[in-house]
Formats: sequence, structure tokens, C-alpha cells
Amino acid sequence: SWPSAVRLVEVGARDGLQNENAPLPVSVRVELIRRLVGAGLKSVEAGAFVSPKWVPQMDGSAEVLARVLAGPPRTGATVGAAAGVVAGGVTGGSAGEVAGGVDYPVLVPNLQGLEAALAAGAQTVAVFAAASDTFSQRNIHCSIAESLERFRTVAGAARTAGVKLRGYVSCVAGCPYEGAIAPQAVAGVAAALRALGCDEISLGDTIGTGNPDSIRRMLEAVLREVPAERLAGHYHDTYGMAVANVYASLELGLTVFDAAVGGLGGCPYAPGASGNVATEELVWLFDGLGIATGVDLEALVDTAVWIGNRLGRAPASRVARAVLAR
Ligand code: HMG
Ligand code: MG
Repeated sequence: SWPSAVRLVEVGARDGLQNENAPLPVSVRVELIRRLVGAGLKSVEAGAFVSPKWVPQMDGSAEVLARVLAGPPRTGATVGAAAGVVAGGVTGGSAGEVAGGVDYPVLVPNLQGLEAALAAGAQTVAVFAAASDTFSQRNIHCSIAESLERFRTVAGAARTAGVKLRGYVSCVAGCPYEGAIAPQAVAGVAAALRALGCDEISLGDTIGTGNPDSIRRMLEAVLREVPAERLAGHYHDTYGMAVANVYASLELGLTVFDAAVGGLGGCPYAPGASGNVATEELVWLFDGLGIATGVDLEALVDTAVWIGNRLGRAPASRVARAVLAR
């Protein structure tokens, strides 16, 4: 039988925007995050404390995080049907606790990133590893083994600071450089991240080549090392399989899924490439299955349209188009 509720981790303001050609200003990223919280999302990734030389889109993440943690301006930029539901949440924002019940994770690749994130008030940080050595080298300039050594230091410092730790594994179904990745390789990295103290491990199908069968085989290997309550599915929708992969993961007991409003992400120069599974597609799926997400579909689609206007395009997801047409 299905769980009564799942948790959606909104990654649009990070994973979604890190691929955009033109970096969006801090004010727009802050407003996006506030609107997502207004739609009912309780876990909203706010940015990445990575090198601005490599990912200029995430420059200013310290300011984004500090501003969302401080709460909205008194007049309230957050509007929409669901805003009332979380009003207590978005007006809270006192430091030292998860602001108003909303968690704002940020990516940290190393100690330098962690220190900057802590200074900005981060309460949850995420390290990111990969199941492919080549991808690890390209993404964070070190091998998987070296990254795990580095993350041991980061995890220790995060624990000392009393913040929650998330761990990503990229390329869980395939790698853009190495092709297919063995489920056992994913399980090994997931187990290592768990051993470092990661509270939650997010399994990334970075290039969206997984299908329900390969995702199931990958998860069966990972579940021998890490229990389902500690796992999240993070599926990119490049080939349109992400919703099916979420469903396959739900069948194996996962209850946390990463998604990006409007299906943000992807490269404008790679026709057909797309971002994470759209958050509104998962809300539609779970609404239909009778599984609570706490997210208001209409308010979420409004947010997809709003950020789409900032990026100069309509939301990519079919659910957004269908909701707008009704
Ligand atoms: P490096 O060049 O090897 O680092 O980069 P370094 O330690 O040699 O330092 C070189 C320079 O970077 C120095 O500056 C450092 O200060 C600076 P310089 O002296 O040259 O002026 N630097 C930093 N600046 C700001 N913040 C930091 C930081 N660290 C060093 N934290 C590094 C190594 C990891 C830093 C770099 O490769 C990097 O930032 N990579 C980030 C890559 C990234 O953000 N990728 C996207 C996120 S992962 C993802 O999207 C997958 C996911 O969604 C799951 C999935 O879908 O699979 C999570
Ligand atoms: Mg991703």
C-alpha cells in the first residue's frame, strides 16, 4: 500500500537555474523561492556554494539564502491560494531553527563552501559525489575516492556545526562519459555517504537515461546498503522517463523525490535536453494516487509561469500546460 504522504524537495532554484545561459539576479531567485514556499513546498534548495568561475549562475547564493531565511518583506511578496496555509511558515524565519518549518538545503563541494554556507545561516548542506569517476573529475575535479575523503572533513565540520547533511550520488543510471553505470557502483558510493553521516542520500539520474527497470535494479542494490527512509530519487527527464522512474521508486519504498518547478533545467543549445522532473508533474501524480504532498497545484503552476516569464519561455511540462488550459 502507498504511504500517506511523500516529501518533495524543490531543486528548481539550484539545479534548474544552474544550467541557464543568463544567470538570474539574486532578487529573482529569492522571489522564486518565496513563491515555491507559498505553494506549500517545505524543502526548497536555495543555491550552491561552488566556484563562481565554474558555475556563475549560483554566484550570490549566500545572499539568496540569507534573504530567504530572514523571511519575506512585511508587505509579503508571496501570494496565491496556498499562501495562507503556510503563512506561519514564511513569516517566521528566526535563526537557529529550520525557518518556519521550511528547509533550504544548499550544495557545498568542500570545506570552503561549507564555511560560506554556515556563515549565511545554512541549516542543511549537501555534498555531491558521483558513481562515475569521469563525471566526478569533470564536475568537481577529483576522483570518487578523493571526493569521499574531502566529504569526510565536510561532514565532520557539518556535524560540529549541528546542521543536517544530504549527499547526492550522480550518474546512478548512466554517465555522459562512461555510459552505463553498474548498480553496485551506485550502492558503494551511497553506502560511503551514509557512513560519513549523510542523513539523506539523493540518487541522481543526471542525464535521464534510466527507465523503470534499470532504476529498480539500481535501487535494489542500494537498498541492500541504505534503508529506503534515507533515500531520495532525483531524476532528470531528458527522455521523458522521470515520472515512471519516480513511480518505480515509490513501489520500492522511497518517499522523498527531488523535482524542479516547470521542469527547469537543461541546455538551450541541446535541443530536447531537459531538466529535472517537473514538480507539478509529481504533484499531479501524487494527488491522483491519494498521496499528500502539501503542495497546491494551481499555485505551483502559477510559479512555473512566473519563472518562465523571467526566462522568456513557457513552462515545459504537460501538467502545467493542461492546468493552464482548463
Ligand atoms: P578546483 O578549481 O579544483 O578548486 O574546483 P580548488 O580548490 O583548486 O580552488 C580553485 C579556486 O576555486 C580558488 O580560487 C578557490 O578559492 C575557489 P582562486 O584562488 O583560483 O581565485 N573555490 C571556491 N570558490 C567558491 N566556493 C567554493 C570554492 N572552492 C574552491 N566552494 C570545485 C573544485 C569543487 C570548487 C569546483 O569544481 C566547483 O565549484 N564545482 C562545482 C560543480 C557544480 O556545481 N556542479 C553542479 C552541481 S552537481 C549536480 O548538478 C548534480 C546533482 O543535481 C545530482 C544529479 O542530477 O546527478 C546534484
Ligand atoms: Mg540534478
